[in-house]
Amino acid sequence: MATSLTPAPKTFRVKSFGCQMNVYDGERMAELLGAEGMTAAADGEDADLIVLNTCHIRERATEKVYSDIGRIGKDSRRADGSAPMIAVAGCVAQAEGEEIMARAPSVKVVVGPQSYHRLPAMVADAAAGKRSTETDMPAEAKFAALPKRRKSGPSAFLTVQEGCDKFCTYCVVPYTRGAEISRPFADLVEEAKLLVAGGAREITLLGQNVNAWSGEDEKGRVVGLDGLARALAAEPDLKRIRYTTSHPNDMTDGLIAAHGELDKLMPFLHLPVQAGNDRVLKAMNRSHTTDSYLRLLERIRAVRPDIALSGDFIVGFPGETESEFQDTLRLVDAVGYAQAFSFKYSPRPGTPAATMADQVPASVMDERLQRLQAALNRHQHAFNKASVGKTCDVLVERKGKLPGQWLGKSPWLQSVHFMADADIGSMVTVELVDAGPNSLSGRLV
Ligand code: 5AD
Ligand code: SF4
Repeated sequence: MATSLTPAPKTFRVKSFGCQMNVYDGERMAELLGAEGMTAAADGEDADLIVLNTCHIRERATEKVYSDIGRIGKDSRRADGSAPMIAVAGCVAQAEGEEIMARAPSVKVVVGPQSYHRLPAMVADAAAGKRSTETDMPAEAKFAALPKRRKSGPSAFLTVQEGCDKFCTYCVVPYTRGAEISRPFADLVEEAKLLVAGGAREITLLGQNVNAWSGEDEKGRVVGLDGLARALAAEPDLKRIRYTTSHPNDMTDGLIAAHGELDKLMPFLHLPVQAGNDRVLKAMNRSHTTDSYLRLLERIRAVRPDIALSGDFIVGFPGETESEFQDTLRLVDAVGYAQAFSFKYSPRPGTPAATMADQVPASVMDERLQRLQAALNRHQHAFNKASVGKTCDVLVERKGKLPGQWLGKSPWLQSVHFMADADIGSMVTVELVDAGPNSLSGRLV
């Protein structure tokens, strides 16, 4: 497909939607474009190239892409009157690339999540008049082609694993991100060292099924995520390690034990359960039950009693009855989550659940989501209130709204604000003195 010639873009903006892995991918795309001599557009300035790094997990996320494309075409006129070049990346690009190209002539580049190392070349082609789509899935090639990491904020993401083989019946991820792959141990240790040298004090290891990561350590032994965490913990300037998202079935004995042994492994675990009823879990193809999930949490709490738990929930999965939904509320009360994400079921084209009988009406889903979120908010606030009186370390991430105020995270991933003379990236000790639903205030000790 040909388009008219446009000057090669000099400035860019990457807009990432959806999960933390998209945030990571967005940072890497920015680094790639930077390595080609392009610069990030300043705030408020129109960029020559806009990369929409999209999410396909729920219908609303997908609709947003098309409305954004329309808006950019209309509003984002630059000084010379031309519209910016648009590139669509991420999971919508993977799933609907051809359709986007056909529907949106203003989009010049479509690049899937496993091919974005090709972005600069595709942008150059587009400037020369050639629109292109790249949605092959050989994930290994991408990481090798990315530039080395340089600068980092205090808290960095590091993708260690991609893709998913679990095929939950509602989920598009196995189709958009492909099969599970683990990045090699040595590459990850190297990338982590560069991030730490660039300023990172906390690294969050990312993967759709991060706890399914495995690799060979420097002695050739096969290790799981706990082995990787142990290797990273040996970096003196790295103070905190986190990981997300985990599947209950991949919570190995070694990883559970690591929570009791590794001080740098933070007491926080995002372990989605999705629903609290076994019939629904089976229909979702979750391959765990409420009981096996609760027993797993008991084992983790036995080694790390203060662990903060987080989860994902879907309400209104096809066929979910009122009493089955109430089982989810019961599970929420039994666990006492420190925080959680909850969603209305969204039928995704091509997934088994999309064509299941007994789709739940939107009004019922709305009402269930409200009740679930009320319960989750109550537990989050209770968890925060129970933290008052504790003394803990806070990693300073940015300035607060008030003069002299700083913001950072507690070990349990709570936002903490406090007054002090602090530096970004430093670790301070605070006493938690007050708790709201979404944050706590601390006093320097
Ligand atoms: N509808 C609603 N929520 C979904 N999720 C994944 N697929 C769907 C869907 N089709 C949620 C799950 C998952 C999180 C990332 O998004 O809770 O854990
Ligand atoms: Fe989707 Fe299930 Fe895989 Fe999570 S485990 S990415 S919900 S298929």
